[in-house]
Amino acid sequence: MHAVDTSPTSTSLIIGASSEIGQALIAQLLAAPTKTRIVAVSRSPLKLPAAVRTLNCDYTPEAIADVGQELSSLSGSIERIVICNGILHRGELQPEKRLEDLKLDNMAEVFRINTFVPALWLQVLAPLLRSTQACRVALLSARVGSISDNRAGGWYSYRASKAALNMLIQSAAIEFARRAKNVKLVAFHPGTVDTPLSAPFQRNVADGKLFTPEYVAKQLLEILRELPADGQASYLDYAGKTIDW
Ligand SMILES: NC(=O)c1ccc[n+]([C@@H]2O[C@H](COP(=O)([O-])OP(=O)(O)OC[C@H]3O[C@@H](n4cnc5c(N)ncnc54)[C@H](OP(=O)(O)O)[C@@H]3O)[C@@H](O)[C@H]2O)c1
Repeated sequence: MHAVDTSPTSTSLIIGASSEIGQALIAQLLAAPTKTRIVAVSRSPLKLPAAVRTLNCDYTPEAIADVGQELSSLSGSIERIVICNGILHRGELQPEKRLEDLKLDNMAEVFRINTFVPALWLQVLAPLLRSTQACRVALLSARVGSISDNRAGGWYSYRASKAALNMLIQSAAIEFARRAKNVKLVAFHPGTVDTPLSAPFQRNVADGKLFTPEYVAKQLLEILRELPADGQASYLDYAGKTIDW
């Protein structure tokens, strides 16, 4: 007699899973009544329940392709992908206040993590998203990536890397509308969330506007559940409101 395969038929993929928003997403998916297989990808080993399949990845193109290979061997389809990777500061790499602060190496590193790595994920995941079942893909962007919303300036690399990410998302959505109509891409602004990324910049946040990762994860999962696959990219904030590109 064959063993009955009781594993869920759909997968939720959280990339950059050490992110505090990513961790909250995983916790809420684990607690959800509708079961999904959870795959978490990170540079670092994560302490996660055994029910979560964790894959280590250093985000080189080869390592990303290897993860894609592993994912292609899973049964069922991928229903949900969240790409969390993003950097604002690290050591002497800090958001620039003026043009004199620009340093090529720092700019390149911010673009690598915020823009190029998510693009490589879309490249590797695209061939896996052919099924007739819908897949919603959220990429953690930021409102400061909106060109039309930029009134304060500064944060050159971070702003530009998220604006470029948004453009990649727009282009990919046009391609997906042709090759896999059931894929919906979302550039997601989580608001200011209490994580290491925002920690040095929380002083001027209005009362009630510094969100917990748990709140933002709940909002994102709800938004993804309700979004129709309409062949277009959406740029949405934590409340599900559209942001002008
Ligand atoms: N917190 C906020 O207020 C806020 C506001 C707007 C937008 N966002 C965006 O939300 C996303 C998640 O941020 P968070 O606040 O949860 O930050 P976080 O807890 O600091 O998480 C950092 C994320 O960046 C990835 N990362 C860090 N260094 C990396 C590197 N060298 N190479 C590749 N990936 C690297 C981590 O992936 P690993 O798991 O592989 O380490 C993780 O996904 C980011 O894209 C951020 O820009 C955050």
